[in-house]
Amino acid sequence: MEKDISKILLTEEEIQEKVKEMGQLISEDYKGQEVLLVCVLRGSIIFTADLMRNISIPVKVDTIAVSSYGSQTKSSGVVRLLKDLDEDITGKHVLIVEDIVDSGLTLKYLRKILEQRNPSSIKVCTLLNKQERRVHEACPDYYGFIIPDEFVVGYGLDYDEHYRQLPFIGILDPKIYKG
Ligand code: PRP
Repeated sequence: MEKDISKILLTEEEIQEKVKEMGQLISEDYKGQEVLLVCVLRGSIIFTADLMRNISIPVKVDTIAVSSYGSQTKSSGVVRLLKDLDEDITGKHVLIVEDIVDSGLTLKYLRKILEQRNPSSIKVCTLLNKQERRVHEACPDYYGFIIPDEFVVGYGLDYDEHYRQLPFIGILDPKIYKG
């Protein structure tokens, strides 16, 4: 599996250090409050699991799943809700946890549907920010790393559902998805 990676972009150590910092910052910002982490399936499961273990204030976690149509390496223009939250978010401090914000389409959709449910606040936390591909207004409140426009896998991110378990984030060899 590691032979399919052309370059390691972020090592396991770099990721863990950043996740710790992000957890501390979130704990300070929400001091005295409880936060509901919204884990966006499936990519953010690993980041959410690590992030919540670095947050020192009370947190709850819920999951939501969305899908965007299109080719497997680029986001398309349509988002569909596959699995809704289990919790009522009225009056809660919601923190959407994403592995990556790319075009911004997914985040724009998530914010729109969750804002209608009258939470006390909604913020967004993403590990990776692929800023140069942003087409939809979507500004994460917390992000770990700005990354270049490369197809990355690992630490939850997949290609065709593979590579999610890699502890680092790497650039996938184009031969894998171009054939
Ligand atoms: C990825 C990622 C974000 C979204 C970002 O999910 O987890 O949810 O794409 O792209 P955007 O900013 O262009 O909308 P994906 O649809 O690949 O599903 P997955 O999390 O199950 O891998």
